[in-house]
Amino acid sequence: MKKKLRSQEWFGKKGKDGFIYRAWMKNQGIPDDEFLGKPVIGICNTWSELTPCNAHFRELAESVKRGILQAGGFPVEFPVMSLGETLMKPTTMLYRNLVSMDVEESIRANPLDGVVLLCGCDKTTPALVMGACSVDIPTLVVSGGAMLTGKYEGRNVGTSDLWKFSENVRSGLMTEEEFNLAEAGMCRSRGHCAVMGTASSMACMVESLGLSLPGNAAIPAADAGRKVLAQLSGRRIVDMVGEYLRPSAILDRRAFENAIRVNAAIGGSTNFVIHLLAIAGRIGVNLNIDDFDRHSSGTPLLANLQPSGEHFMEDLYYAGGLPAVMKQMCRQLHTDCITVNGRTIGENIERAVVLNKEVIANFENPFKLDSGVAVLKGSLCEAGIIKPSAADPKLMQHTGKAVVFENIEDYKRRIDDPNLEVDENSVLVLKHVGPKGYPGMPEVGNMGLPKKMLDKGVTDMVRISDGRMSGTGFGTVVLHVAPEAAEMGAIAFVRDGDLIELDVPARKLNLLVSEEELNIRRAGKLMGSANIIERGYGKLYVQHVEQAHLGADFDFLKGSSGSEVLRDSH
Ligand code: FES
Repeated sequence: MKKKLRSQEWFGKKGKDGFIYRAWMKNQGIPDDEFLGKPVIGICNTWSELTPCNAHFRELAESVKRGILQAGGFPVEFPVMSLGETLMKPTTMLYRNLVSMDVEESIRANPLDGVVLLCGCDKTTPALVMGACSVDIPTLVVSGGAMLTGKYEGRNVGTSDLWKFSENVRSGLMTEEEFNLAEAGMCRSRGHCAVMGTASSMACMVESLGLSLPGNAAIPAADAGRKVLAQLSGRRIVDMVGEYLRPSAILDRRAFENAIRVNAAIGGSTNFVIHLLAIAGRIGVNLNIDDFDRHSSGTPLLANLQPSGEHFMEDLYYAGGLPAVMKQMCRQLHTDCITVNGRTIGENIERAVVLNKEVIANFENPFKLDSGVAVLKGSLCEAGIIKPSAADPKLMQHTGKAVVFENIEDYKRRIDDPNLEVDENSVLVLKHVGPKGYPGMPEVGNMGLPKKMLDKGVTDMVRISDGRMSGTGFGTVVLHVAPEAAEMGAIAFVRDGDLIELDVPARKLNLLVSEEELNIRRAGKLMGSANIIERGYGKLYVQHVEQAHLGADFDFLKGSSGSEVLRDSH
């Protein structure tokens, strides 16, 4: 027997309630038969002119609507808070959980049978997926697509080059005028960052999890194919409602393992770790930080994309897109996992071919043998992560003296001080940029090197923090150190001159200070230094956010409340 449409609890009602539900929809010029008995599909839109990466989403929503109408559904577009990485202060990560609540409550409270999530700029994808998972009605993701490759002086450039340009200006290798010219050529079209940064990693994440149609990750935002995919997604979500195909039927543990392996093969963002953990927490899959090391080790780097390689998302599309990458590594994937189109991963990638081996390597002859994320443990942390493919191989085993910055302001004040006691073997330590300490865990972990070192031609040093790094960043950067300084983790007690040992092959991160000495330091500092916020969302955030290695979700948001609404209002 066919499942009754959820929307009929509203539009199918008799009496005063039904009158109210239907009559006010009609003020939009909609006749009865448009929404009576048809699957009502929400289009959850993160369009905003303050989120430049998602500024084309009204158009994209129109394509989704066409598909929904063609398949006999009734589309309703609704806004949620949007998170624009480039403009929001202090960091969009502060608001990821807030948006997930907005999405969850918006879906549950309204007469929706299915939902299409329009996702683009970094946090918009995990926030929307987290919220939708906590309701668990049929859900399909449409990503906005990446920008066309940037151009500067005839060269291809992308967001990852920004870090180099900035260092070059500081060390005098680039003039301000040249910097401005690079700025003008960076963002040539609609879409999100053109490298394998967090937004692209998130688009690949949803495709490898099975939450989007195949091909979703790599079609450029400016390509007509993006609108075609949106329209096909609109058609498909209507069928998904008929099949009652929900995220919980797609997102089992094997789907998460697939996503971890794919993220390793594409050289995906370190932010992937924190977001995938949070999504797993919502759908009830018991994923932990060690799974990222376990399942990504042995996965080679197949996609030659910035920041781990040379090329751009546009090139990935022309080379065959994510299905071609997944086809190369299919022996490592659970190919029987079901996806939103009702087919398995294996069926979806069956016909995929690599069209450019410069961009997508053979599994037997990869760009790098080891990829993914290494999870570090030791006396400095319960867990910290590093992305070896973006780091200097010479620094993978390194012991050096700590140069400590107590917070980001301290770092900014002293990093270019000619009297800073630092050399190329030093280990830069930045504290209080974790979830509670900042608060919001900003992307400052790949802190710029001291000017003194840049002048000597040093291009990389070991850097350690309890913060995050932009998915477009690179370097020998240990991130997400937990517990963070504000939670009295060992990082809080590091002092200038302490020896720190990083051993990535052995997965170790040690503070070489005796336990006795550490206890003395602990005794002298009895309180953590979480930012005290007296009111509003910031207060809620600091009180409830979990540590990075748990996904930095709110403790009270774990799991699902389902789609049922227990009380009627009228
Ligand atoms: Fe939006 Fe990079 S700023 S994806």
